[in-house]
Amino acid sequence: MSTTPEQKLLLAQKRFGNLIRAIPVGVVMVNPDGIIEAVNPAIVKMFGYSERELAGLDFRMLLQTVPWADEAELLAWHNSNPEKAIELRGVKKSGGSLPVDVSVSQLDNESRRQLLLIMMQDVSERVKIEKMKQEFFDMVSHDMRTPLCSISLLVDMLQENASDLPDDTREEIKKIGNNSKHVTRLINDLLDIEKVEAGEIKLIYGLFSLSEMIMNAIDVVQAQATKRKVNLVAASSELIVCADQDRVLRVLINLISNAIKFSPKGGKIEISFVDQPDETIVSVKDEGRGIPSNMQELVFERFKQVEAADATSKGGSGLGLAICKGFIEAHGGRIGVESAVGQGSKFWFSIPHRDISEFAAEQSGANAEE
Ligand SMILES: Nc1ncnc2c1ncn2[C@@H]1O[C@H](COP(=O)(O)OP(=O)(O)OP(=O)(O)O)[C@@H](O)[C@H]1O
Ligand SMILES: [Mg+2]
Repeated sequence: MSTTPEQKLLLAQKRFGNLIRAIPVGVVMVNPDGIIEAVNPAIVKMFGYSERELAGLDFRMLLQTVPWADEAELLAWHNSNPEKAIELRGVKKSGGSLPVDVSVSQLDNESRRQLLLIMMQDVSERVKIEKMKQEFFDMVSHDMRTPLCSISLLVDMLQENASDLPDDTREEIKKIGNNSKHVTRLINDLLDIEKVEAGEIKLIYGLFSLSEMIMNAIDVVQAQATKRKVNLVAASSELIVCADQDRVLRVLINLISNAIKFSPKGGKIEISFVDQPDETIVSVKDEGRGIPSNMQELVFERFKQVEAADATSKGGSGLGLAICKGFIEAHGGRIGVESAVGQGSKFWFSIPHRDISEFAAEQSGANAEE
């Protein structure tokens, strides 16, 4: 006997019901007043109530604080964030709490009553891992940076009074100094990249002369350039930009220092900028080995280097460009490279123009708060 279309539909509905009951995500069906009509077993497991206890109750009792005043707000939130989940605190029957990702969708049914499906996912594991990560970074920043700082100070003191020591001892002290500086820089870079990825970069905007900033960056890398006999040529103009000076300086230092690392002896590096209607573009052009096209996007990812030996032979960890990208994108700018193997590279970044009157208003607001 063959099954009718109605029977097929019933079977499919039954299977779908079984699926909702089996999935490990909590599902609560509520009516337009927020009253629970049905829950799946995952909700029972997460909150410790039985299905019967929950039926007829307001779903808000499962959450510590609800960011929506009523169902209309809940629906408006859902409509503007259709794919999005929000992390809230769930309250168990025992009184304990758990972190849950909550998302909402609308369910059309025959009686035309607008039912809502509220999905809740227990994210305790994710929150635990985030906490461990945070603790690790706190530990790195405090417990490792502090002793390294003392080692560096001690080495500086030893170097100042090292004139009586034998040459090889002085050389060893110098090596300790360089290594501790290298590890300190790596730790600082890791902490920065962590901030970039967590979206926690807070920019401190200010007005400054781009030419002066380029001269500052050159001061920092001049010794490295002289050592490699590389010639630095910089453009100069009266241009004033509005950006986070420290962050843009670090971007420039990394780009110029990369250009020096990969330049041939006697090579030239040009640092220039052009002011366009919406943004200022700064570029650093070298005559080095260039970057293959398949790596031109990848080098902006952390720990990505064109050649495995770049970490050892050129002394770098592959974090510099990832940090540059984070700093520039935090400004709303773009960063990229034009290059061809054997023909040098031109790294560039943009600083979007800011409305100076808006910036002045922000400044006076900040001053008033102080
Ligand atoms: N100007 C350049 N010419 C050729 N290759 C480059 C240039 N700049 C960067 N690269 C390639 O991109 C990689 C990543 O650069 P990035 O600045 O992120 O790291 P790094 O310089 O190796 O280390 P760090 O900046 O953390 O000390 C480099 O290792 C190199 O392979
Ligand atoms: Mg670098």
